[in-house]
Amino acid sequence: MEHLIELTADGSPTLFVPALDEHYHSVKGARTESVHIFIDMGLRACPLPAPRVLEVGFGTGLNALLTWDEAERTGRPVRYTTLELYPLSVDEALALGYEGAAGRLRALHEAEWEMPVELSPHFTLRKCRADFTTCSLPAAAFDLVYFDAFAPDKQPAMWSEERFATLFAALSPGGILTTYCAKGEVRRRLQRAGFTVERLPGPPGGKREILRAAKPL
Ligand SMILES: C[S@@+](CC[C@H](N)C(=O)[O-])C[C@H]1O[C@@H](n2cnc3c(N)ncnc32)[C@H](O)[C@@H]1O
Repeated sequence: MEHLIELTADGSPTLFVPALDEHYHSVKGARTESVHIFIDMGLRACPLPAPRVLEVGFGTGLNALLTWDEAERTGRPVRYTTLELYPLSVDEALALGYEGAAGRLRALHEAEWEMPVELSPHFTLRKCRADFTTCSLPAAAFDLVYFDAFAPDKQPAMWSEERFATLFAALSPGGILTTYCAKGEVRRRLQRAGFTVERLPGPPGGKREILRAAKPL
């Protein structure tokens, strides 16, 4: 998909996709949004000693980078699986210039696909070229889902009740899913798929609310 680099309100860049009229992140702050929704409300809310993360939409690798940084900072290892149908090239991803420890963004994008790659003792990455609208997932294989698809009005098939049921089955009991979208219909679909859903405050300067959905123990 053709895309353009744009700066967001917190100074971090994102990509704009003209064909979809859609950004990869919030224009109110790409980094701020990702830290809040996926690290603060997701990873830090997961009590497990070695969480298994599933990301829907690898994109620029920003969520993976922030998660790797957090794993190094805390010493808590993360196994990170990410689904992506339209991978960026390494050059396209590096052009964003996201700040991270030296070489980490490149390592994320240069890692082999379809196999676990131990990028450090604290971070193992598995990138899967897969269509989330049709793929199957192993049961109870993940503890945390970063649901970061393009918006429901742009890609409705990513946000169906059936897809949420697939994610529900892929989570371990007590597992959680976070997403930036707090629309009532999305919340109800998550609930019908079995999740207990809470609305949480959105990132500073960004959306009013986000969603965190939990699979009961
Ligand atoms: C909002 S962006 C993800 C942003 C990403 N998490 C990041 O940190 O940069 C949505 C992503 O979903 C991917 N995508 C679109 N359709 C898909 C599909 N059917 N299956 C898997 N990924 C898809 C897009 O290519 C894009 O990278």
